[in-house]
Amino acid sequence: MKGKSEMDINSEKIQQIVQQVLSEMGGAAPKAAAPKASGPIPKTSRAAMLTKLEHYDIKEFPIPELGDDDILVKVEGCGVCGTDAHEFKRDPFGLIPVVLGHEGTGEIVKMGKNVKKDSAGKDLNVGDKVVTCMIFKDNPDITMYDLNKQNVGGADVYGLIPDDEIHLNGWFADYMVIRKGSSVFNVSDLDLDSRILIEPCAVLIHAVERAKTTGILRFNSRVAVQGCGPIGLICIAILRTMGIENITAIDGEEKRLAFAKEMGATATVNFKDYKGIEALTDAVNASFGGYLADFAFQCTGSPVAHANIYKFIRSGGGLCELGFFINGGDATINPHFDICSKEITTVGSWVYTLRDYATTFDFLKRAKGIGLPMSKLITHRYKLEEINEAHVTNLKMEGLKVAIINE
Ligand SMILES: NC(=O)c1ccc[n+]([C@@H]2O[C@H](COP(=O)([O-])OP(=O)(O)OC[C@H]3O[C@@H](n4cnc5c(N)ncnc54)[C@H](O)[C@@H]3O)[C@@H](O)[C@H]2O)c1
Repeated sequence: MKGKSEMDINSEKIQQIVQQVLSEMGGAAPKAAAPKASGPIPKTSRAAMLTKLEHYDIKEFPIPELGDDDILVKVEGCGVCGTDAHEFKRDPFGLIPVVLGHEGTGEIVKMGKNVKKDSAGKDLNVGDKVVTCMIFKDNPDITMYDLNKQNVGGADVYGLIPDDEIHLNGWFADYMVIRKGSSVFNVSDLDLDSRILIEPCAVLIHAVERAKTTGILRFNSRVAVQGCGPIGLICIAILRTMGIENITAIDGEEKRLAFAKEMGATATVNFKDYKGIEALTDAVNASFGGYLADFAFQCTGSPVAHANIYKFIRSGGGLCELGFFINGGDATINPHFDICSKEITTVGSWVYTLRDYATTFDFLKRAKGIGLPMSKLITHRYKLEEINEAHVTNLKMEGLKVAIINE
């Protein structure tokens, strides 16, 4: 006879069984109960504040009274981005003291009475998992359907806001306050790793959208992706979810090239194996079976790589340059051979639009659906109190994505 504990089916289990039976019968399953907020809200929250170059202090701030349009989020995790690394090393935006962290996600624990919908028109409730995009304080009603805002330039972003009386302005914290005028998305249907990867993935969704405007990127295109850091790897994943089959990944690190294959690259070229641009171009040509690339994505931040990439592209082909989020110096190209006589169509890509964010959610579901190992992009996970160590690891560039994960 079975023991009591094995027979004790709780109500959650019964609901799961009923849902499964109904869905197998093709009937409508009862709507799942809205998720409940986790635990009581404390009076204070920890936040990792960058107080001087290369040093965070964990500070305790009161959780402020919420306005009618504000949202209080319990932070679950946040990626460490290249911009955080620049702030940590040099503070180029002059933000110190500042609570950084903009690749974050968490659960709504409290909302002002006016908050009803997210920026895509989806309902928002306590217990929902959310991410934020830009803050349009002068245009608080903006939604993702407003295409007049071309990109993030000019708008504020949580994690890059100067300290003020609220303090809880970045995702490297236990709680964060989302203020009126913020774009916020309900992403409860994505797992934590996917939600942490939304921001960098949106960069590549935007780049691919820019690439598509050339009319050259098609299903059967041969595509070269130069640079296999997180940016190039996500680029490959997006191309795969679009059904592009011929992708050559180029990098100098064998480990990264191996991961590029897992992400869907069909061939890899280690540029360090070749002496001179002619030999390297021949290798790229051979990787496509004796053809140059129809289209190429430059994802390195190296001026030399930018100069080289034109050689890998066929006459009449296209290039998306997205590897220089910040100024990386000048590159030397030959305008006659590289652009003019080959009639190369080039687009630049920088950050993303609100609409790209929404596309990114669909991409992440599809990537999971076709078995791409997106979670493996997060190679290092640290607690909030280990944030200095997390940044040092990030600067060493040993892994790919470093993330702060709250319990
Ligand atoms: N356009 C945007 O909005 C945007 C947003 C974020 C990041 N970026 C930029 O994208 C770039 C890549 O970001 P990441 O996080 O993947 O960086 P990363 O440094 O982790 O990766 C760059 C990769 O390029 C490889 N590389 C260097 N020189 C090369 C060469 N000559 N040929 C081929 N590969 C070469 C490196 O080995 C490395 O694996 C950065 O420079 C960053 O500034 C742009």
